[in-house]
This record gives sequence, C-alpha cells and structure tokens, in this order.
Amino acid sequence: MTMEQIIPSGAPLGAEIRGIDLGAGVDDATVERIKAALHAHKVVVLRDQWLTPDQQIAFCSRIGTLEPHVLPQYLVPGYRDLVRVSNVLDAAGQPIGMIDAGRVWHSDGAFLERPNMYSMLYALEIPADADGNPLGATLFASTAAAYDRLPAATKARIADLKAVNSLAAVYESLRRSNAAAQRAPLTEAQKREVTHPVVRTHPHTGEKCIYVSKAATLRIIGLPEDESRQLIDELADWCVRDEMVYRHRWQVGDLLMWDNCASQHLAVGDYALPQRRLMHRTTVGGSVPF
Ligand code: OGA
Ligand code: MN
Repeated sequence: MTMEQIIPSGAPLGAEIRGIDLGAGVDDATVERIKAALHAHKVVVLRDQWLTPDQQIAFCSRIGTLEPHVLPQYLVPGYRDLVRVSNVLDAAGQPIGMIDAGRVWHSDGAFLERPNMYSMLYALEIPADADGNPLGATLFASTAAAYDRLPAATKARIADLKAVNSLAAVYESLRRSNAAAQRAPLTEAQKREVTHPVVRTHPHTGEKCIYVSKAATLRIIGLPEDESRQLIDELADWCVRDEMVYRHRWQVGDLLMWDNCASQHLAVGDYALPQRRLMHRTTVGGSVPF
C-alpha cells in the first residue's frame, strides 16, 4: 500500500495530506496517521475529495465522537450533525446555513462545558474574484506555538488563571465586527457562562495552549475589569500575530480539519453574493478542559 505524504505549510501550523482518497475508503491505520498529523500540525487538509454527506459523517465519526450542532436551524435537512456554513439564500431569501461563522478569531465551542475537539469543513462551493482567484479564505493560528513563545514571566502570571466564556460574548463580538449577524436570538441555555483555564493542556499531546479569545472570553476570574480586558486582548493578539498564521485558500473538494485546543481560526469575509460559498461542517466532541 502506498503511504500518504504530509506537506507542512511553512507556517507554525497547517499541512496538506496527499495520497488519500477518502471516498474509496481508508483503513484504521490510515485514520490513526491522519489523527497523528492533525495533532502534529493542528490543521490538515486533504484536497480533491469527493464525499457525500454520509461519507463525511462516517469519516468524521472515525476521528472521534460526532457532536450535534448547537444551532439546529443550520443543519442540512435530514441530518443531526451536518451543518451548512454558507452565504447562499433559499427561495424565501433566508440563509440556508451559518452566514457569518467565524468572522472573529475563535476556537469552536469555547462557550461549552465540553468544547468541540475538532471541526471539519468540506468545501462544495468557493467564491472567486473576476480573475478566478479564490475568496473567503480561513486563517488559522497555533495557540500551542503562541503559549510556547510567551515570556517566562507571562507563563508564570497566567499559569493558574481561569476565564469565563459564553456564546453571548461571541454574538456581541460579531455585532462589534459588523458581520451580518442575522442570527436567531439566543435561548437562556445558550447564554450560559462557562469557566475554563486560561492555559489549557492538550488531552492527547500534553502541549499547553492559550485558551482565551476576544470572541468568547468575557473576563478572567479574580482580576479587576480593566486588567482582565487588557490581559484577554494581549493574549488573544499574541496568538494571532501575522507570523503565527496559516492562510487556507480553499478549493472545491477540500476536506479540512482543525484542532480547537491547539488553534484559533478566522473566516475572511471578502466576498458577497452572487459569489457563493457552501461548506458542510461536522464536529467532533471534546472533554472538559484542564
Ligand atoms: C466554523 C468556522 C470558518 C469558515 O465553521 O466553525 O469558523 O471559514 N468557519 O467558514
Ligand atoms: Mn469556527
């Protein structure tokens, strides 16, 4: 059997895995090597994959436990755990999927008690400019590399801190960033606040990762409000400095996975209808951060 090749992006995270056709079926050893590459590189892409919804779900459930989405209005009809991320409108002019997913730097599910472990996006339609260059890139930053490069004094200062996160904070930051924000109002349950460590240990690699974001983190416990805001902004900005970022330029047929403990991501909103973008997203559930 031919082994796949792994081509690192050159940035602190991100790699392409070549030589695998997921539609043709893969054995357990290959799935394990894909997971190992995901842990090593935080973001991996397999290009030119041709997958039905059921094939994407079946593959994702071999990576981990599939998680139903928190916003059920964006599910692909007939599915519990396959979400549309899209700017496309239906006949009634309503969005068929999450239109403004990820327009601020974030880690998926940071507002959950058990945040999402991995997320998987499969590209069905990608917008392009008049010259055919792809638009709607996704940026990724390594929170593991960001922690590693912190000054020792900062590592000591933040070692035992805890922060409060909520989905309400995500909505508020989307509003501030001027994204479309055409979302249904949150339920009381969705507004719940959860507490996570500011520095998280990766459950599989043991790496320490910065786990605050401007999107979801409301405050750091035990600090005065202004100091709390300042530290959140300082850590969040540190994570996403240009030299830390991998820019994924999408192609139709890309199946891309990321690790939500070891990375943050941001969707670039540089396109608009009639330029269409359509992704199918699946999610792997995670455990309580420590
Ligand atoms: C997501 C997300 C980014 C994008 O689906 O969680 O942030 O570029 N998507 O669509
Ligand atoms: Mn996201």
